[in-house]
Amino acid sequence: MKKILATLLAAILVLGCFSLASADTKTYKVGVSIYQYTDNFMTLYRNEIEAYFKSLETDEVKYEITMADGKNDMAEQTNQIRNFITQGMDVIILNLVQTSSADAVIDEIVAAGIPLVLINREPLAYDADGNTLDEQYEGILNNPQVCYVGADARQSGTYQGEMIAALDNKGDINGDGKVSYIMIEGDPENIDAQYRTEFSVKALTDAGIEVECLDDQVGNWDQTKGQELCANALSKYGDKVEVVFCNNDGMALGAQTAIEAAGRKVGEDIYLVGVDALPEAIDLIKEGNMTGTVLNDHIGQSHAAVDVAVQLLNGEEIQNYYWVNYVKVDKAYAEANY
Ligand code: GAL
Repeated sequence: MKKILATLLAAILVLGCFSLASADTKTYKVGVSIYQYTDNFMTLYRNEIEAYFKSLETDEVKYEITMADGKNDMAEQTNQIRNFITQGMDVIILNLVQTSSADAVIDEIVAAGIPLVLINREPLAYDADGNTLDEQYEGILNNPQVCYVGADARQSGTYQGEMIAALDNKGDINGDGKVSYIMIEGDPENIDAQYRTEFSVKALTDAGIEVECLDDQVGNWDQTKGQELCANALSKYGDKVEVVFCNNDGMALGAQTAIEAAGRKVGEDIYLVGVDALPEAIDLIKEGNMTGTVLNDHIGQSHAAVDVAVQLLNGEEIQNYYWVNYVKVDKAYAEANY
């Protein structure tokens, strides 16, 4: 009898403690929508968002994350956001499919009283005619509970060009006085693609180097597309191609396969640069099969996004913009740091 009583008492105590603990635990609901799961860089980024939220959990605070794949389809992503609103998310982290839809999406989220952290694809300011402006976006500036976390793509483009300008022959392999290049672009709606395309070449011309664009094509951030476009350009322009600029490493990995298949050799008769510093690109740089890349710091960006989301959950005041630096990754840097 005594034993039964003791067991009962113990059970009551345990249950009591348990309900006490759960009453003290606050669980926040976090909705995260990523423009497309198959994107190499955004896969690293979203995994780190989850891992970092988990690392911040305590006995008192938990984060219940609902992650959604926008499938590169704005209508699909808009539905996901509406579901997040219905589900009563406490905060939303959003990697827009189309930055031109930012107005509509921000309005719905703000009207529902949910704080919003935009990541990776920067919505742009525009004038009455819809032309984009080189200014910060009012939809973010006017909303104290909305912010953007990202990196300034001009910097990544400039670093790409500077790595070519720093070579002994400044990228002019055949010594004809100019650098003949092909450009493989990401999604052209995306400011990252626009700025990298412009500023990579600008870094060369700013250094007094003459350039010739042989080909400029859209590869939509995609490895297979990058390979196809580079293969076509190499068969069309052959030895004339001295530099292959890719707006990201995904496409540069594809381009590298095409370069090898065409019997060319990076560092000897062609140069190749990307952006992101994907692990596969770092390996190629160390082996000498890619000239360089630019670290798109997914750790720094995801942590900044989560930190500001937590501040918003705590009702703290935030800034509207948070910037994370890019880092130039040539062979020496890759060998020393990876
Ligand atoms: C860029 C990144 C690309 C791609 C893109 C998606 O910053 O370099 O690889 O992920 O974002 O918007």
